[in-house]
Amino acid sequence: MYKLIDGKEVSAFIKNQVKDEVEVLKEKGESVSLAVIIVGDNPASRVYVNNKKKACEATGIISYEYALPEETKEEELLALIKELNENSEINGILCQLPLPKHIDEKKVIDAIASEKDVDCFRAENVGKMWLGEYDFAACTPKGVMLLLEYYGIDVCGKNCVIIGRSNIVGKPMASLLLEKSATVTICHSKTKDLASFTRNADVIVAAVGRPKFVTADMVGDGAVVVDVGINRDENGKLCGDVDFENVKEKTSYITPVPGGCGPMTIAVLMRNTLVAYRIQKNG
Ligand code: GUN
Repeated sequence: MYKLIDGKEVSAFIKNQVKDEVEVLKEKGESVSLAVIIVGDNPASRVYVNNKKKACEATGIISYEYALPEETKEEELLALIKELNENSEINGILCQLPLPKHIDEKKVIDAIASEKDVDCFRAENVGKMWLGEYDFAACTPKGVMLLLEYYGIDVCGKNCVIIGRSNIVGKPMASLLLEKSATVTICHSKTKDLASFTRNADVIVAAVGRPKFVTADMVGDGAVVVDVGINRDENGKLCGDVDFENVKEKTSYITPVPGGCGPMTIAVLMRNTLVAYRIQKNG
């Protein structure tokens, strides 16, 4: 019998903690704020940005949206980021990815001040994660760690297999699991005999971006399965990277999609924004 990992419940718990802390600051006349930049009209990005704004409202964090047209020039975007970096009223800056093709994402990420990089995308913040010297960590991987912790799942000494090597999820996920003394394997599109790794895993983190990619034959009995994917299936219905209906009975714990990792990413973003505020105040 498997147990469902409820990302909505855990994210509500984290957001409540943030809300309480923001309220205390408000009583002292202080405020915490996040600038969210979106370029163009990618519908998925629009949904994510709206959800981030809603979470700001729920936690008392002030959000400023900068919705720029698709044809925005790279220099214009960089100039906006410079202005936000210099604005002491802004604690966190998030530029929603992907950006239009004519804009260099790396340049944009590197333009965000380290102490305001609440996505934890900048090279030095990524490096700090690997060294275990970070103030805030990448949102989705940190969200996964908080889910595991909330359900009392200790990864120390466990075989953790990550499927996907992206800079946003796979790589930072490996650093956080390693920090907790897991034995970590990162698999990817060039991995030979992927199932031979996943079948021996105590914990599988699927971050591939392919609907229902992880099938029941790839999962060992009693594994913990964390699904980071957000895809559409053949009927246009939201689904993860895991074939949930067929995999769930083999697992001890599994995250659903939606309602698993998605809400956690946003809750951690709120937490990171509060941490960014504290760094800037104490800096
Ligand atoms: N696009 C998809 N996920 C993310 C994220 O976590 N942060 C940003 N900035 N863009 C994204």
